[in-house]
Amino acid sequence: MGSFRSPSSRIIAALLISCSSFLISEAYDALDPNGNITIRWDIMTWTPDGYVAQVTIFNFQQYRHIESPGWSLGWTWAKKEVIWSMMGGQATEQGDCSRFKGNIPHCCKRDPTVVDLLPGTPYNQQISNCCKGGVISSLAQDPVNAASAFQLSVGSAGTNNKTVRLPKNFTLKAPGPGYTCSPARNVRPTKFVTQDKRRTTQALMTWNITCTYSQFLARKTPSCCVSLSSFYNDTIVSCPTCSCGCQSGSCVKADSPHIASVVSGSSSNNPLVQCTSHMCPIRVHWHVKLNYKEYWRVKITITNFNYNMNYTQWNLVVQHPNFDNLTEIFSFNLKPLTPYASINDTAMLWGVKFYNDLLMQAGPLGNVQSEILFRKDPSTFTLEKGWAFPRRIYFNGDNCVMPPPDAYPWLPNGGFGPGVSRLTILACLLLPLVILYRPM
Ligand SMILES: *[C@@H]1O[C@H](CO)[C@@H](O)[C@H](O)[C@H]1NC(C)=O
Ligand SMILES: *[C@@H]1O[C@H](CO)[C@@H](O)[C@H](O)[C@H]1NC(C)=O
Ligand SMILES: *[C@@H]1O[C@H](CO)[C@@H](O)[C@H](O)[C@H]1NC(C)=O
Ligand SMILES: *[C@@H]1O[C@H](CO)[C@@H](O)[C@H](O)[C@H]1NC(C)=O
Ligand SMILES: *[C@@H]1O[C@H](CO)[C@@H](O)[C@H](O)[C@H]1NC(C)=O
Ligand SMILES: *[C@@H]1O[C@H](CO)[C@@H](O)[C@H](O)[C@H]1NC(C)=O
Ligand SMILES: *[C@@H]1O[C@H](CO)[C@@H](O)[C@H](O)[C@H]1NC(C)=O
Ligand SMILES: *[C@@H]1O[C@H](CO)[C@@H](O)[C@H](O)[C@H]1NC(C)=O
Repeated sequence: MGSFRSPSSRIIAALLISCSSFLISEAYDALDPNGNITIRWDIMTWTPDGYVAQVTIFNFQQYRHIESPGWSLGWTWAKKEVIWSMMGGQATEQGDCSRFKGNIPHCCKRDPTVVDLLPGTPYNQQISNCCKGGVISSLAQDPVNAASAFQLSVGSAGTNNKTVRLPKNFTLKAPGPGYTCSPARNVRPTKFVTQDKRRTTQALMTWNITCTYSQFLARKTPSCCVSLSSFYNDTIVSCPTCSCGCQSGSCVKADSPHIASVVSGSSSNNPLVQCTSHMCPIRVHWHVKLNYKEYWRVKITITNFNYNMNYTQWNLVVQHPNFDNLTEIFSFNLKPLTPYASINDTAMLWGVKFYNDLLMQAGPLGNVQSEILFRKDPSTFTLEKGWAFPRRIYFNGDNCVMPPPDAYPWLPNGGFGPGVSRLTILACLLLPLVILYRPM
């Protein structure tokens, strides 16, 4: 206690401790501390006026993936480089190539933007790991599909390791403003092992760029919320009102007779949400369903309120103290996330391929559900004080808005008083304004 002399400093310390877990999630991500997207630029051969490079985008994030319409990567050339040709990807704009005669480059822009090709691209324009429409899976969910690659032939560039220049200002324009990329660094050349594993070749030069995600930079308003219920209390605690903002007029009434025409007439990338009190495209409902002698059971339902989006490869990250013990899950996949030895209460949940890995657009089919069976640890299990409810939930990597703890369903005659006061919640909301997210 030595350093906490005055009562007020003790209160501040207590606030910091109680807030730190979700402050950290605003900063980088305590649940995925090494998560990043690494872009590796391997120079494979020198050419008379430049080089051929293979560029690979690795998604080293446990649960954040890149959905359709896919990644879009921009950078700025150091000099007057051009892209003669590409495989497995394309520049979105050719730019001004008027200084060239005869052979015209694929792209002459100083700041090209490259996107993946679509599935079904002819084989002679493909390379391995390309042509998935820019969709990249998360590492935990589908490690085999957690990378994307393209090849480019660069001209008007240096032709050896002394004269070549690193491209600058790498930007993941899609999936968007949440990602910040480091400058390119010259690293140890990549070694490639041939398929029969009998020979190793290596890149002539390799540059790495690391991009990290911050929810704080990504968007102002949340995109999902959590509602709660239990077998021991009839109260259904709904999502907090306006969890995801309350832009009036920008939602669709569920019983609107013209719903089909509204939906088909809207531009396809903006969320078009059903009117609800929370206005979130996604709601996660946690129902404490049963209390057995040695086990207890939870039902989770994820509902899509967005008419404009089928969520492919959706995932949830759930923090609850009982995840550290034997747990069985029905009809979802589950993987514990153990970023630090001290955090063992968090798991990632996602759908079973071809069964419920697609969360359909809003409507009668727009939900997926599962049940989890937890084995009780008699020393911690209790239905009191909201213990049976999750501490935190992410949908597709975004923190979902939880109801305030003092509104949780109470055990009849029992004790869930306002354990965490509204003051703490308010302080937790205000503190991020003071403490900045981690700088690059
Ligand atoms: C990026 O992620 C990989 C895999 O988790 C990790 O080895 C590497 O250190 C990370 N890079 C940075 C700069 O954080
Ligand atoms: C360039 O290549 C030479 C040998 O070919 C090597 O000694 C040198 O370290 C390389 N420089 C860089 C910056 O990679
Ligand atoms: C870096 O790229 C972004 C996006 O293309 C652009 O807005 C920004 O001006 C660029 N910055 C520099 C220094 O070139
Ligand atoms: C560069 O990126 C590759 C692929 O992610 C990784 O294997 C390698 O360790 C990285 N090199 C450095 C020095 O970070
Ligand atoms: C979602 O998928 C269904 C069935 O594949 C399709 O009919 C619908 O148009 C899709 N909706 C969107 C918004 O892509
Ligand atoms: C999980 O973490 C808690 C708190 O640090 C610790 O008491 C417990 O032994 C850990 N359990 C496992 C299985 O590592
Ligand atoms: C898991 O549950 C068993 C059985 O109730 C209990 O004995 C054990 O202490 C629990 N383990 C942890 C790490 O909580
Ligand atoms: C159910 O929980 C609510 C708090 O959400 C509480 O106001 C109510 O009294 C509880 N009902 C019973 C029967 O305990």
